[in-house]
Amino acid sequence: MKLGCCYYPEHWPEERWAEDARRMAAMGLSLVRIGEFAWSRIEPEPGRYDWGWLDRAIDTLHAAGLQIILGTPTATPPKWLVDSMPDMVAIDQQGRPRGFGSRRHYCFSHEGYRAECRRIVTALAQRYGQHPGIVMWQTDNEYGCHDTVLSFSAAAASAFRGWLAARYGSIDTLNAAWGNVFWSMEYRSFAQIDPPNLTVTEANPAHWLDYRRFASDQVASFNREQVNIIRAHAPGVDITHNFMGFFTEFDHHAVGRDIDVATWDSYPLGFLEQFWFSGDEKRAYLRQGHPDIAAFHHDLYRGCSGGRWGVMEQQPGPVNWARFNPAPLPGMVALWTLEACAHGAELTSYFRWRQAPFAQEQMHAGLLRPDSSEAEAADEVRAAAAVLADIGPQACGQAPVALVFSYEAAWVIGIQPQGASFRYLELVFECYSALRQRGLDVDIVSHEADLADYRMVVVPTLPIVPEGFAAKLAALDCPVLLGPRSGSKTESFAIPAGLAPGDLKPLAGLTVTRVESLRDGVAETAEGFAVTRWREDAASDLAPELADSEGRGVVYYKGGVRYCTVWPDRALLALLVERMADEAGVKLIDLPEGIRVRRTQTHAFTFNYAAQAVFVPHLGAALPPASWHLDPA
Ligand code: GAL
Repeated sequence: MKLGCCYYPEHWPEERWAEDARRMAAMGLSLVRIGEFAWSRIEPEPGRYDWGWLDRAIDTLHAAGLQIILGTPTATPPKWLVDSMPDMVAIDQQGRPRGFGSRRHYCFSHEGYRAECRRIVTALAQRYGQHPGIVMWQTDNEYGCHDTVLSFSAAAASAFRGWLAARYGSIDTLNAAWGNVFWSMEYRSFAQIDPPNLTVTEANPAHWLDYRRFASDQVASFNREQVNIIRAHAPGVDITHNFMGFFTEFDHHAVGRDIDVATWDSYPLGFLEQFWFSGDEKRAYLRQGHPDIAAFHHDLYRGCSGGRWGVMEQQPGPVNWARFNPAPLPGMVALWTLEACAHGAELTSYFRWRQAPFAQEQMHAGLLRPDSSEAEAADEVRAAAAVLADIGPQACGQAPVALVFSYEAAWVIGIQPQGASFRYLELVFECYSALRQRGLDVDIVSHEADLADYRMVVVPTLPIVPEGFAAKLAALDCPVLLGPRSGSKTESFAIPAGLAPGDLKPLAGLTVTRVESLRDGVAETAEGFAVTRWREDAASDLAPELADSEGRGVVYYKGGVRYCTVWPDRALLALLVERMADEAGVKLIDLPEGIRVRRTQTHAFTFNYAAQAVFVPHLGAALPPASWHLDPA
């Protein structure tokens, strides 16, 4: 795994570049990502390119022995461009334009902006496509960041109508699929259809789902346009995009298919603070991040682009964008780095080289302080680089467990939660965490993955069962877990004719006859676990494998397949993991709180995420806080 950093030569006097490059290399970095926000400097006026500074920056970095990742600058269209076509900005759900003055102020559907992107990317790729120092291209930056996947602009509305016409062919087909007879919502032509915002009460969920599918396709095609241009001018050079954490607004598997390396931006402390974790977890892991946050995304993104992945932005210190922004515990930056390696990353690049003293991110730490002195993380980067050099390249084998992840499932649940605390990402994360707490390595895969060689398969929920998926599961001879709401919707967001779980009924051996959601704080007891948030009544010839204290079925088992009718709490998940592993003959480990393990083909890594030393039985020794231990596999 190579180490690198994100660098903005345009922020610093040119005299400093060579010294910066020398210090990067001396710190153990070999990669540097540049350029992704530099449009106003590359093209200060319409059609007038200023390549001089970028030529010199690239040459200076390359001369110091660094390999360059060059970003396309399309996340930050300059002011003159926005002024030349003011309708290129996205329109938010309330109908307001998203103005100039930060970033990502564009609509994925605006044809004029797309043409401008093709032009700037072509110019950049023509100029640097053959440069020996450039080893990777990054398209744009964090598609969707700041809530920018959905736009409700005129451009989006018109593209949506075309998308619907291509999907349904006739308006009658669409009306029938969406159920538009309900509330007299029928349309007489595609031209009458608007995006699903600004309706009096909720819009038709089928309308919303198609809008989300459409918006996701727009991101993928926007990205593909850049990829095609770069490939033409830089054949054979890797292309990446830097995805985000806990983010499901577009189908990353679709974008991942078009690129070579899926990278993501890892901010474990910011994510712990911003997401659903409990107050206790936020306190216990304040300066480390929850032990499964980084690993979850490593395993998710490994499954997005054929196995090649990396960390494009690694948090090196306090960030600026969470509600509270603590500093990592000493050791964590090195730990996060080695953990990425243990999950098979090709690269980890720190965000950023030097903290900027100006503008929006002046409170975001870097490897250097604004005065160029080394920040706390610098020593940890050197330490991680030394370990990496020592252990050599790490390759990952297939994990024993496949966890099936679906972006469409996230949209379906988000559009119609039916219970305020039914959160798709949280459910998947809880399943993942239950497996990781017992020492299992996990591959997070799409429904398209070949599941044949896994020893356990977990589907946290899959409301819409893709064509062929039920047959794929039926052909497996390993334990399978299906979570609640699986098979509960058709492709066009209706209840299946024979009720849930739809195509999965023969596999699960039951029919869901009623669902209910429970308010926060309600916990109905069962032996060893509790039912919270969600429960389903099932009609079945099977006796439940697990029931609650009133005898209502919670888990049904049929020929290796389990269907869980409730939101599984941690105790229930722990029990299910144990049963499945036992049937599969997969060995579990009892890991103390905060300890995680991960194996490559050559090494076994143990990480301590706890804020204190922890005795680790499988090592027979205590691990200090924020530390790791390495054994041969
Ligand atoms: C990422 C983004 C970077 C920077 C960073 C700060 O979301 O890609 O440009 O803003 O966050 O943590």
